[in-house]
Amino acid sequence: MNSPRLIQIAHDDPQAVRAELLAGLQAPVAHIAPKYLYDALGSRLFAAITELPEYYPTRTEAAIFSREMRDMAAALGPVDCLVDLGAGNCEKAARLFETFRVKRYVAVDISVNFLRDSLACLQREHPEMDVLGIGLDFSQSLALPAEVGSGPRTLFYPGSSIGNFTPDAALAFLRQAHAASAGGALLIGVDLVKPTAVLEPAYDDPLGVTAAFNRNMLLHLNRLTGTDFDIADWRHVAFFNSVDSRIEMHLEALRGATVRWSGGERNFAAGERMHTENSCKWQLDNFAALLQQAGFSRLRHWTDERGWFAVFLGFA
Ligand code: AVI
Repeated sequence: MNSPRLIQIAHDDPQAVRAELLAGLQAPVAHIAPKYLYDALGSRLFAAITELPEYYPTRTEAAIFSREMRDMAAALGPVDCLVDLGAGNCEKAARLFETFRVKRYVAVDISVNFLRDSLACLQREHPEMDVLGIGLDFSQSLALPAEVGSGPRTLFYPGSSIGNFTPDAALAFLRQAHAASAGGALLIGVDLVKPTAVLEPAYDDPLGVTAAFNRNMLLHLNRLTGTDFDIADWRHVAFFNSVDSRIEMHLEALRGATVRWSGGERNFAAGERMHTENSCKWQLDNFAALLQQAGFSRLRHWTDERGWFAVFLGFA
């Protein structure tokens, strides 16, 4: 039996992380990058979000894969190397192994420690498969190490996380994905524009799980930067910005609040907001144009019957 190989590409230096976060906190409109939503508790809260009746993307995408997997496999041909971006528990990719005839599986996530247990388990279930885990912050750079191998790769980026990039950053990311999949392909999940009455409850659920996910970011920030945020001073705000076609998440001060850290402080007036996440919702045509601009061709896509979500395939 093979055993999984694990590689960690250098983590960000804690001082650089602190400097980046404090700069965002002191900007005229304070902002925090959405990747800081995912500490250990944040990752669990996100998993809980995907179970909420209002949060349609995860189950809609899963239904598209179940229904269309064979058609996707026929379009792709045998997949020698599947590179799973943001692999987490690796469940989404594992459902494709058989149908896609995957020989080598490369799971990429921000920390290789997130992958250790799932990859060990996966390797037991697929003893012949070549399994590699890479810890890499691919939102910064998608330069994959040589261990991935030089043959064609199919990049797999499900979950509509591309929506958490601004359109410019999404294009830059897709260009890197194009370079990283030379001779291969990209299979990517994209959330589509739909009525506000569906979108807003998905990001502001009545149970308050998304609110906890957003507010928990402040506890993460306190640990990373030494700030003294009191989460009781902050409420979750989420709404659809139809001009920019995105859900925006913010944290809004319920009352005047001063946040202090070693070497500085910032006052927030009651009602002042910090921007914590964008989740862009695409039109089919616009996303296809973006893929083409990034260099992908022979595009295909599959959607659900309501047209809420799409899985795109493009060849590099
Ligand atoms: C990870 N990402 C695709 C989620 C989204 O829908 O934008 C993150 C999320 N934010 C709030 N709820 C879920």
